[in-house]
Parts: sequence; structure tokens; C-alpha cells
Amino acid sequence: MNKKISDFIKKKNKTKLVTLTAYSKNIASILDNYCDLILVGDSLGSVLYNYKSTREVTLNTMIEHSKSVRMGIKKSLMIVDMPHNTYRNPKEALKNAKLIMKKTKCDGVKLEGGKKIINTIKTLVKNNIPVMGHIGVLPQSDKTFKFKGKKQSEKENIMKDAKLLEEAGSFCMVLECVQTALAKQVTKSVSIPTIGIGASNNCDGQILVFDDLIGLNPIKFRFVKKYANIKTEISKAVSKYAIEVKKGKFPSKKYSFN
Ligand code: KIV
Repeated sequence: MNKKISDFIKKKNKTKLVTLTAYSKNIASILDNYCDLILVGDSLGSVLYNYKSTREVTLNTMIEHSKSVRMGIKKSLMIVDMPHNTYRNPKEALKNAKLIMKKTKCDGVKLEGGKKIINTIKTLVKNNIPVMGHIGVLPQSDKTFKFKGKKQSEKENIMKDAKLLEEAGSFCMVLECVQTALAKQVTKSVSIPTIGIGASNNCDGQILVFDDLIGLNPIKFRFVKKYANIKTEISKAVSKYAIEVKKGKFPSKKYSFN
């Protein structure tokens, strides 16, 4: 197994794992100082492109953003989301995952789902492609973003899926919008790290969409804590620029060629 991946797994039960999404080089190069893993998430479909869902994101879009992110990362693991309809069967998944790995030089891919995609995950792992699983709320296929784990059937399915992902050789898994007690149970019962988003602090690590964390994305989710209000900072800077341009103050001599 890739050393970076095995080091990541070894952090389970030792230290909490810090992970975030990035869609471009400049942001990735900042996050790289603090993160164990950076995900090029297909959330970029809604965050950057205003798509109604992540289902509209294409393989090419993921590859182009990932090439940019790659340039900003020196130490963190870099994982790329496989978009909707690019892993409908093991053969298709392998072809597309190989393309993502080759073009973006990432360390692995993320796929959404449990039981239904277990053979696909096994195929990728057999072909030395590290896989990050993703269970709980699945934005590529779920109609609502309601948290999971209240109903007994949901609890059982999520527990089963977590065990299956581990058995199939995934190196970690995202738990999205999963009830607190269930997140704890899953985290205790698998030997690979669980990475929560809306899944309490009972997970081995956390992930957030970076634009949400800095207050740039207008959408509000209960599980998102805004650590900054970058929108205000950007507005201040752009407003100063606009005033100076209108007054002919920018560019002054300092910024001109004499
Ligand atoms: O697409 C994404 O950004 C994700 C994370 C939020 C887990 O899947």
C-alpha cells in the first residue's frame, strides 16, 4: 500500500484527521499546511457552477480542477471525487479512475455508496487505486439531504455498508449527515478512519466544503460552522478598488511604468 495512505490510516485512534475540499491551486496551497487530506469534491458543481445537483458534474471538469489543485499540494493526500455516471459498473469505474489518476496525479478516488458499488470498489483496490468511501447522505443519488440513522433500517444499512467498505479495501470513508450515536458506532466498529460531515465529533476526522467554512458560499447547512466571513473582506477590498479607480487614484505612480 502507498505509504501516504498507510500513514493516514495509522492516525486512527491517535490524532483527529483534518480534511477539507479544494477546487484550485491557490486555495489548496494554503490548506496543504493544515490538512491530512484534500478532496477535490464534486460539490464544486453547486458551489462554483450553480448546478442544481452534483449529478451534472463531468469527468473533464473534475480532471481540470484536480490538475490545478495538484499544483498547490506538497504533503497532504489528494483525493478526487468520481462524478455521477462515471462508475456505473466495475469496468467503467476502472477506466475512469485510471484516467483520473493518470491525468491528475492524485492519490486516490472517492465514490458514493455502499453495498451497490462494493464490486466496483474491490476492482479499483485490486488495481492499486486507493478508494475513499462515502456513506450516509449521498448527494449524487439522494433526493433529500435529511440526516440518516434515526430509523432502525437506516442504522442497520449504514452499519452494514461501513463494514462492506472496509472489507472491500477502502482506506477511509466519509460519513455524511449521520446521527451522532450511529457515527460513534460505525467509527468504533471499523479499523479505517471515518471522516464526518454533519456526523458529530465521534468520527476520526472531519471534512467541510472550504467555501462554506470561509463564508463564501451563501447556502446554509446546520452542520457548517463559518470560521470567517471572507465575503465581507472581499467586498471591502473591491469597494476600495472601485472608489480609487473612479477617482483616478489607482494606479498611482508606484504602480505605473515611467
Ligand atoms: O463533494 C464533496 O465536496 C464531498 C464532501 C463534502 C465530503 O463529497
